[in-house]
Amino acid sequence: RKQLPQFSSVNKGVEIIAKARRILVLTGAGISVSCGIPDFRSKDGLYSKVRARFPELDDPTLMFDLAYFKKNPKVFYSFAREIWDVQGHEPSVSHMFISQLEARGQLLRNYTQNIDGIEAQAGISKCITCHGRFDTTTCQRCHDQTLSGERLQEFIHEGVVGTCAHCGGVLKPDLVFFGEPLPDDFDTHIDADCEQVDLVIVMGSSLKVKPVAGLCGRIPRHVPQILINREVVGYPHQFDLYLLGECDDITHYLLSRLGWLSEESSYDGR
Ligand code: OAD
Repeated sequence: RKQLPQFSSVNKGVEIIAKARRILVLTGAGISVSCGIPDFRSKDGLYSKVRARFPELDDPTLMFDLAYFKKNPKVFYSFAREIWDVQGHEPSVSHMFISQLEARGQLLRNYTQNIDGIEAQAGISKCITCHGRFDTTTCQRCHDQTLSGERLQEFIHEGVVGTCAHCGGVLKPDLVFFGEPLPDDFDTHIDADCEQVDLVIVMGSSLKVKPVAGLCGRIPRHVPQILINREVVGYPHQFDLYLLGECDDITHYLLSRLGWLSEESSYDGR
């Protein structure tokens, strides 16, 4: 049997979601774990592998640190294949839950910290990829941006540092590394979205990385916030409803109870 939160809590979630018309969904790596992509901070996540392989590194998040990448891009290129595949991955139930919200006109925006590009495959178009994208690159020396995603994938698959065909400089995928600003569309939408939103759902994120983690603090106090995650995250009492467990199990049950699934959920609430 699936481990789901208290029946009454999930039912409350169904009630709130059914009524909401402008839902802001903030997602993190947890929603892609069932697609075969590790998250970052769980005990079997990417950062524990980085720690094991590069014990001399003070902090595994340095793999995404711009200043460190400029000095030593090897750590990033050794691990990038764990989190990105140009062929893509099948969306999870949690991705499909968000695409259903959009199809039903209830999604205000999906702010994702994920860089796997699965949102597009799930048909989610109202999505801001806050931490950038993997399918374009920029040469750190001549700023050439013409390298194809397929060629980058070859470097990443081989685990070798990608270099520019024109000048030999190091290529960096257009991900937002620590020390870089978020993409323009984050700033374009965030203020208006925070004014319009009538429900926030956070799914599969440790809420450890700012400024995205700080987004919830910008939401007016009267707007309900729901957490769907394996563990409690955020500041104390941040959420009105805590749905703790596997996000696919929870979203599958929500989809079923909202009548958005063709087959019945196996969860009976006991
Ligand atoms: P984290 O790895 O920090 O957090 C993932 C969260 O999802 C944790 O709270 C897990 O417990 C939870 N989780 C994992 N699998 C789950 C599942 N199947 N069901 C429910 N919950 C699950 O990932 P993010 O918060 O996304 O930055 O990390 C934020 C940023 O930190 C990333 O975008 C990345 C990283 O450094 C950059 O790449 C710039």
